[in-house]
Amino acid sequence: MKERIEIGLMGLGVVGGGVENALREKAADIAKQVGAPLAVKRILVRDPSKKRTCQVQPHLLTTDPQHILSDPEIDIVVEVIGGESPAYDYIKESISRGKHVVTANKEVIAKHGFELLNLAAQHQVALLYEASAGGGIPLIGPLRHDLLANKISAIHAIINGTTNYILTKMALEDIDFTTALREAQELGYAEADPASDVEGIDAAYKLVILAALAFQTQVLLGDVYHEGISRLAARDFRYAKELGYTVKLLAIAKREDNTFQVRVHPTFIPDDLLLAKVNGVFNAVQIDGDLTGRILFYGQGAGAAPTSSAILADAIRVAQNINQGLSQIPQVRLGQTMTARPISEIETRYYLRMTVADRPGVLAQITRILGELLISISSVIQKGVDERAQSAEIVIMTHPAQERAMQQAISQMEKLDVVKEISNLVRVED
Ligand code: NAP
Ligand code: HSE
Repeated sequence: MKERIEIGLMGLGVVGGGVENALREKAADIAKQVGAPLAVKRILVRDPSKKRTCQVQPHLLTTDPQHILSDPEIDIVVEVIGGESPAYDYIKESISRGKHVVTANKEVIAKHGFELLNLAAQHQVALLYEASAGGGIPLIGPLRHDLLANKISAIHAIINGTTNYILTKMALEDIDFTTALREAQELGYAEADPASDVEGIDAAYKLVILAALAFQTQVLLGDVYHEGISRLAARDFRYAKELGYTVKLLAIAKREDNTFQVRVHPTFIPDDLLLAKVNGVFNAVQIDGDLTGRILFYGQGAGAAPTSSAILADAIRVAQNINQGLSQIPQVRLGQTMTARPISEIETRYYLRMTVADRPGVLAQITRILGELLISISSVIQKGVDERAQSAEIVIMTHPAQERAMQQAISQMEKLDVVKEISNLVRVED
């Protein structure tokens, strides 16, 4: 039994500051659970002179990673620097030196998780990453333990707080994209480079992590098709509403026999679905298991306090193990028997918005292309005639069609001189 379990904290930004605050405020309760105090011994930062929102003793701060990596008294490294480099190297070195690691770094886990988990097993230490997906919502734990007996057929998830915040503001408050993004950044939800959120990359990292655990197979980042929210315009939200849909950036993983598909893109979902009511920074992950049926996890997907809840839970778990003399926490064994299906092979419904010349026979040319590619139309709306430009806006909703056929249809339509612009194509999940 150790008298004190020491943490080396790497990063003292939004999440690191939240961890430091929560550890201090809950020190007595945590010590009761662990059987010894859990204390931060050293904190790695870039700039020790920076003004911090949390109170830390200045002598704890360092810019030298070796003050954590080479300190034999440090049992657990909590990595909340973010990004691939140097975080990956620090995690690898920590594990190789026999330290347990807790991280919120979805990029490192999505790209190198398989290798790092094997390395951790080899060195008999824990590598835990609950905070890497879904902020404060327990997702990794349930997939690793509570749902293990299930054959999971699908995940439909809103797993990026920043984009959900932006989409909610654009849909419900008519706030423009730039203002909503700035607000999300001020609230600490966005990544250091918010393009990662906006382009669906952050959600793709998280989907890799969740799908690998759900399907118990290796999933590569390159398997995920991802598309961001930057093409969405205010009119797409208005049409969606008119048609009975809500627009969400959805991360979707589906199992089909021994193949799977993983994709992140803006999606029209029916207004009456629970997922459609998930607003602001809240995330929701819907999982279909053969034993459980459909279940839904819901909560705050970003922010200092919710994320520190996930990190501290992992750190407490590791500390309890240390004090009970248990070195490892079982990991899900990931096979390599399933293969990823490319986006071109999916079948879904589509919303297509385009600007066309406002003259007779235009619709016939468009429907001929769709018909020849076996894409059946479920409804057409014509709106917003611009008399001066002699153009009209057409919105087409299709029945389920093959993605490959839809992409062919778009490239053929783009060649029609009556089509001025294909403004947006959004997939629909009913
Ligand atoms: P952040 O606010 O940008 O904080 C990053 C911290 O790491 C800062 O303290 C920074 O030092 C330090 N740092 C960065 N590069 C460093 C380097 N090369 N050497 C030493 N220190 C370095 O980031 P964050 O929002 O807390 O996110 C941290 C991680 O948590 C990321 O992996 C992120 O994806 C993940 N995450 C974030 C949230 C969220 O809501 N923000 C939620 C879940 C997961 P200085 O302070 O001196 O600049
Ligand atoms: N930038 C991420 C988000 C942080 O907005 O969801 C939580 O992982």
